[in-house]
Amino acid sequence: MANSDNGWRLESHPSTCIIRLGASLGTDLYRCFLWICFAVSPWCSLSLRRGLILLFKPSKAMAQATVTPCPTDLSPLTFDPYREFPDCELEKRIGLVKERLSESLLILGHHYQQDEVIQFADLRGDSFKLSQLAAQSDVCRWIVFCGVHFMAETADILSRDEVEVYLPDLAAGCSMADMADIASVEAAWEDLGELIDTDDVMPVTYVNSSADVKSFCGRRGGIVCTSSNARAVLEWSLGRRRRVFFFPDQHLGRNTGRIMGIPLEEMSVWDWRLPLGGNRPENIRSSRILLWKGHCSVHQMFKPEHIEQFRGRFPEGRVLVHPECMMSVVDRANLVGSTEFIIKTIAEAEAGSTWGVGTELHLVNRLAQAHPDKRVLFLSPMVCMCATMFRIDLPHLAWCLDNLVQGTPVNRIRVPQDTAHWAQLALRRMLEIH
Ligand code: 13P
Ligand code: SF4
Repeated sequence: MANSDNGWRLESHPSTCIIRLGASLGTDLYRCFLWICFAVSPWCSLSLRRGLILLFKPSKAMAQATVTPCPTDLSPLTFDPYREFPDCELEKRIGLVKERLSESLLILGHHYQQDEVIQFADLRGDSFKLSQLAAQSDVCRWIVFCGVHFMAETADILSRDEVEVYLPDLAAGCSMADMADIASVEAAWEDLGELIDTDDVMPVTYVNSSADVKSFCGRRGGIVCTSSNARAVLEWSLGRRRRVFFFPDQHLGRNTGRIMGIPLEEMSVWDWRLPLGGNRPENIRSSRILLWKGHCSVHQMFKPEHIEQFRGRFPEGRVLVHPECMMSVVDRANLVGSTEFIIKTIAEAEAGSTWGVGTELHLVNRLAQAHPDKRVLFLSPMVCMCATMFRIDLPHLAWCLDNLVQGTPVNRIRVPQDTAHWAQLALRRMLEIH
């Protein structure tokens, strides 16, 4: 935990908050000193104390600039009691920490988060927007990420060095990102090198991947993409090298390649469990895009028959899906786009229009609530929700924030420096061409 050398240090237990003065000089600190004396003085009457506290209260700007959780001998608060707290108690705790840490704390939330959690996000977005927000965060000291592990890693890589990033539940991973572990990616690259010149292959990874895989791409002149800029990134890549190796979402890679007019015969799937990815050498040689055999377990659940059923019920309805869906679903949809695109499309749609939306359940439900003048329906009869995003709940958020303010932070996401360096290069390339 980094400590400021001067100024305020805030040490807080859920039930108590002790503010101590660090070593420093100046009128602001003198005001602070008086403020603390009055705040804790047993000799003043309550109303006198309140008046004096208001008079000498340190400015918000000063508090924001210097508040730091104290190094402490306290042990981290254990999670178990938080499971038992009622929602109102958890919400109160979260609200208190937000108020205390003010702009030093930035809570970022992905649109797939449940309502209970997203209400506390200072800023929300899709993967691309959240990457931009982390890169632009110039005031905060702590980012608490309500999303999944790779998003928190990306925030750690892109934010200023002094910013610490936390993920309320470390089990909030992404099954798609886990499908491309770095050892398999390196082995595949080596395999490929025995057949073709890998200097002419651009490694491109969807942001839904580990920092290791991003770093792997960055080291080799490669790049990251998100669902909102995949086409621009693939065009950039194929303008520089003959082929692309695309990790880990085969569907996003294939759907984007097709929009660009690349025939299916020039896109081969690489199954990392098989020698040469399960391909014949001549298939590899004629490929322009090699697609890692990964997928999103949520979006893969949407099927062409769900679209047929929707169209049977609402012939005038339009279908809008995320590009992580299978090609057979994307082919039958009216519109395809990233989370932000889906949100914008529904917001701008005419009143009375009907939409079947193929993306994560929490987002679709929120869109339906936000636009009661339109009919927004979930495309699948099944519950397609991201179980790992759902792990971020009120108990974990409150527990993480209480520990942060107590000075016993838990669940910090820290990408090792060398990995972060190369991963950042790949991410910055993406941010530049968007
Ligand atoms: P976007 O946020 O880029 O739309 O991706 C959706 C997703 O699956 C996030 O994990
Ligand atoms: Fe991963 Fe899919 Fe969940 Fe996104 S929705 S975090 S890609 S499993």
